[in-house]
Amino acid sequence: MSEDKSTILVTGGAGYIGSHAVLALKNAGYNVIILDNLSYGHREIVEEVLQVELIVGDTSDRALLDQLFTTHNIAAVMHFAAFIAVGESVTDPAKYYRNNVSGTLTLLEAMVAASINKFVFSSTCALYGIPKTVPLVEDHPQDPISPYATSKWMVERILSDFDQAYDLKSVCFRYFNAAGADPTGLLGEDHEPETHLIPLVLFAALGKRESVSIFGTDYPTRDGTCLRDYIHVNDLAQAHVLGLEYLLKGEKSNVFNLGNGSGFSVREVIESAKEVTGKDIKIVERDRRPGDPPVLVGSSDKAKSVLGWNPQYPNINDILTHAWQWHQKRHR
Ligand SMILES: NC(=O)c1ccc[n+]([C@@H]2O[C@H](COP(=O)([O-])OP(=O)(O)OC[C@H]3O[C@@H](n4cnc5c(N)ncnc54)[C@H](O)[C@@H]3O)[C@@H](O)[C@H]2O)c1
Repeated sequence: MSEDKSTILVTGGAGYIGSHAVLALKNAGYNVIILDNLSYGHREIVEEVLQVELIVGDTSDRALLDQLFTTHNIAAVMHFAAFIAVGESVTDPAKYYRNNVSGTLTLLEAMVAASINKFVFSSTCALYGIPKTVPLVEDHPQDPISPYATSKWMVERILSDFDQAYDLKSVCFRYFNAAGADPTGLLGEDHEPETHLIPLVLFAALGKRESVSIFGTDYPTRDGTCLRDYIHVNDLAQAHVLGLEYLLKGEKSNVFNLGNGSGFSVREVIESAKEVTGKDIKIVERDRRPGDPPVLVGSSDKAKSVLGWNPQYPNINDILTHAWQWHQKRHR
């Protein structure tokens, strides 16, 4: 690690995307401190794989943040910590607004008090709501339809106001579906409960669940199933390093989509998973779910042109191969 690189605080660094970003930051020579309350994160990943300082604590703990910011020389904050289950956010919105909005506000206020003014934020393509046009671009109208998506939309609004009032500069990354795992197989996706398609398909391949449901087979798409944009988690992590460096250069606040640009249908993902794993995967066809748009695919041209982002793993087979390596290790 080089001596002259800055220290970056990564909230939620013991989780899926955050842990990959920590690895990318380390590889780029940054010092990293993780703040994670371990509500969904994994201590062993930090201790055994990432080997960086872990502060077990909550983004809503102002006293802890004040102490952290005065005892460490933090140049910027990367904020992954949030609750992420869209369905749960509908039945328990308070949990989502308290953690994702209120917790973030406390973090931002502590940053302002400590004169730390660079912030990289995990936002979501879900804030666009039902797409009016695809591929989605950053100036597509915003109309979030779940409390989870609304919580991210609110933070983006807060960030815009904090820039105006306190000169806090931010990069908001609106991710599409994060997927895959570090090719070493040492890091990967481990949500409990798991709601994402690719791990569920691979659980079926591992025999950990009986079948995979396809919700809707009569959409106006090439095979009748929904098209989604899967972005490799290492490509996301790389974008975060570029977003950080953009802010460290003194650039203005900005928002970027991070997606693959090409959609894969649910059936295509399952077919590809069969190929990669060599296993049969039982499918159960079900009715459409309310609120599921037929196509959710984004354009990431802006991140490519402004940040010089160049995704390494756009191929769904690579995404599945890396995810499969991780799940086999994790569940053996
Ligand atoms: N996974 C996706 O496809 C996806 C898509 C769009 C946006 N995002 C966003 O990316 C971020 C990371 O998602 P993920 O899939 O890695 O989730 P994750 O649950 O694996 O990681 C989140 C981490 O944050 C921690 N955490 C939660 N609340 C906290 C708090 N108040 N204080 C401290 N730590 C806290 C959890 O313990 C966990 O380790 C989230 O903000 C999520 O909304 C994810």
